[in-house]
Amino acid sequence: MTDPYHLGAAPDLTPDPERLADSPSWGYLLQEFERLYRFGSDGGSRAIRGHRKRVRETLAQVIEANPAIDQRPPATKPVTAHLPRALDLGAAGPLEGMARTLERVSDRLTWEYGYARVPKPLEKKYAYCEVLGPQGPVRSERLILGFVLFAPATTYPQHSHSEIEESYVSLSGAWSENEAAVFAPGSMILNRPGEEHRITTGRHDPCLLAYAWTGPWERLSAPGMKFSRSRRARMEHGI
Ligand SMILES: [Fe+2]
Repeated sequence: MTDPYHLGAAPDLTPDPERLADSPSWGYLLQEFERLYRFGSDGGSRAIRGHRKRVRETLAQVIEANPAIDQRPPATKPVTAHLPRALDLGAAGPLEGMARTLERVSDRLTWEYGYARVPKPLEKKYAYCEVLGPQGPVRSERLILGFVLFAPATTYPQHSHSEIEESYVSLSGAWSENEAAVFAPGSMILNRPGEEHRITTGRHDPCLLAYAWTGPWERLSAPGMKFSRSRRARMEHGI
């Protein structure tokens, strides 16, 4: 059949997907991550030096490729009532730039638990949001960057991540891992694949941590988190 109006093929009216370059607020937040993993000391640790390099080099390549922005609906959790305080403390700390940049996108964050059924003790005390990863908002299959927020006096139970290397850098709040030390804002912790860790936070203020996950893409898109047996049993019983 001929085109009665002689207009040829219909124009494609599908809008182009939004890209990172069109979204300065996400771009500036990624820039803060890139700086965080570029500057500062590795404390003499070869493992931390290697991790920092992997994160910043992968991130630089992701930014350069101008990835799609896939904005999920924003979501809060009970713990996000502590976010303003965490950001206020963060803005007075060594990661001031990141805290302020995060505040600019705080109404677009998708806070989640990451469990089909959240363990009762964590329901009001914990949530995380991704800013870069397979689920967006900035799409990447190669790296996950995000934030985790804990209420004061939280215990996040012992667990490990298979094939995933994880680092935390605190923006605000004092916290401890495996009861080994107290970490102040600006400190970086590295958890290598399979290493068990348990987090506790100070009694008076919330704790906001930036995190990075590197690993094989099939793990990043479906990360299995293993709780140690006794911890899992205790969590299931809400203790
Ligand atoms: Fe972890």
